[in-house]
Amino acid sequence: MTQIMDGKALSNKILNEIKEKTALLKTKPGLCVILVGDNPASRIYVKNKEKQAQDAGFNSTVYRLSENTDKNELLRLIDKLNNDNTVDGILLQLPLPKHLNPYDFLDKIDPKKDVDGFHPVNAGKIMLNENPYAVPCTPKGILTLLDEYKIQIEGANVVIIGRSNIVGKPLAQLLLNRNATVTVAHSKTKNLSEIAKQADILVSATGHPDMITKDMVKKGAVVIDVGIIRDENGRLRGDVDFNSIKETAGFITPVPGGVGPMTIASLIQNTYSLHILRNKL
Ligand code: GUN
Repeated sequence: MTQIMDGKALSNKILNEIKEKTALLKTKPGLCVILVGDNPASRIYVKNKEKQAQDAGFNSTVYRLSENTDKNELLRLIDKLNNDNTVDGILLQLPLPKHLNPYDFLDKIDPKKDVDGFHPVNAGKIMLNENPYAVPCTPKGILTLLDEYKIQIEGANVVIIGRSNIVGKPLAQLLLNRNATVTVAHSKTKNLSEIAKQADILVSATGHPDMITKDMVKKGAVVIDVGIIRDENGRLRGDVDFNSIKETAGFITPVPGGVGPMTIASLIQNTYSLHILRNKL
């Protein structure tokens, strides 16, 4: 029998814990999200982040900037937030419109307010197995979920499909730091099915619905589905063909209700921790 890994339930538990701890603080954690342009998926994600931060009792502000915002305007906003003592976490929602290069901005966010863990200082600390100020939210959520279900990470063969800076690369590094044996596969990988089938833990983060099928999954493997895309019928779809592998996998994350809510829970945890750290509480 395949066990479903309930990210929604675990996320609710984490969010409640943070809410209770926040109620005891003298000052509220502050999260600022910057959304540039009108990418429909980003708008939904940002609304959700705003709501969860409010529910946790944080000061939650979203800066919605127009599609044609110029580089200097965005840099000025980041500088203002870096210097605002009520702000603990700054999140620049990606992707940015084509005329803006994310790396012109991510390294301008104060590393101690870098709630996404994307600043080169934080990425470097993860690379060196040092404590970063914040760990990227989706990888952190996946690790929290694996730990909750007591999945053995040390010594496990992990295959990650997808090498993005947001998910694949930081997750690979974090799992390596936990002594897993990690393979990162991507669009140019040969013999993907054979490689995937070696995995004790298979993580797919491609955004291609149903690409992970039964022939790619070892019996009893843990399958983590990071993909989330809305199909032409308005249905949310992951990378994994859930019905085909559901008897093969030992554990599987559903879409929706798996990794997605864990990403938000991690963001709220990160904002809380940055507040504690900056205020030396
Ligand atoms: N776009 C998709 N996922 C993320 C994320 O975790 N952080 C940011 N900033 N943008 C994203």
